[in-house]
Amino acid sequence: MLLEVSDLTIAYNGLEALHGVSLQVDVGELVSVIGANGAGKTTLLQTLMGWQLPSGGSIRFEGRDITRAQTHARARRGMRIVPEKARIFSQLTVYENLMMGVYGMRRKIPVDKRLLWLYSLFPVLEERGAQVASTLSGGEQQQLSIARACISAPSLLLVDEVSMGLMPRLVDKVFELLKQLNGEEGLTILLVEQNALASLGISHRAYVLETGDIVLEGKAGQMLNDERVREAYLGI
Ligand SMILES: Nc1ncnc2c1ncn2[C@@H]1O[C@H](COP(=O)(O)OP(=O)(O)O)[C@@H](O)[C@H]1O
Ligand SMILES: [Mg+2]
Repeated sequence: MLLEVSDLTIAYNGLEALHGVSLQVDVGELVSVIGANGAGKTTLLQTLMGWQLPSGGSIRFEGRDITRAQTHARARRGMRIVPEKARIFSQLTVYENLMMGVYGMRRKIPVDKRLLWLYSLFPVLEERGAQVASTLSGGEQQQLSIARACISAPSLLLVDEVSMGLMPRLVDKVFELLKQLNGEEGLTILLVEQNALASLGISHRAYVLETGDIVLEGKAGQMLNDERVREAYLGI
């Protein structure tokens, strides 16, 4: 198992946002956690990345307990996040933003080879390489954020609500790219989403998070047909 989260609890000022969440992600899987606004999706990813410390439970990554490890130690082991609302460096160019993805890495990254491959998936990033990142559209910024996280060949990519604020056509495109990253490179991805239809469409497995509790889990295909999921998350 690449990632094993057991009974994770986290509180803000004594108020619990996650009440003992357990989930697993295997190498090569694309797994989604779907949930409404406020369910605790961002809290979960931030805790996995080490931006928040849990009040209980454990996180194992590549067999090691990283529950209390610092963010940079997790990043060094290959964990990367595409945060909520693509946090790009708006004053830097697209190319400089991409290079930030390898900054400080101890492991030698074959940057040119990675760039060529990422440009084949995200041609717009090559076309706009010299452009200041703040001038990109929302969809392009999301692509930049994903590409930057992927340039160092991560072992686990965490993706926080990448569909937010994107037009439906772009949502499909970005999700198709994530599916390609998973399929072609075998990149393991854990994504959290309100957009249940789009995320279940590309995932192998999924969990449903409701106000801090996992209430359902299963194969993505089965979830799409699940009565409760259809009613609560697909509006069918
Ligand atoms: N920094 C914070 N301080 C206090 N409460 C927070 C903070 N961040 C999130 N919360 C609360 O934790 C719960 C989960 O939020 P969040 O993880 O952002 O959910 P989601 O990403 O699913 O929308 C919400 O009730 C939210 O109000
Ligand atoms: Mg969120």
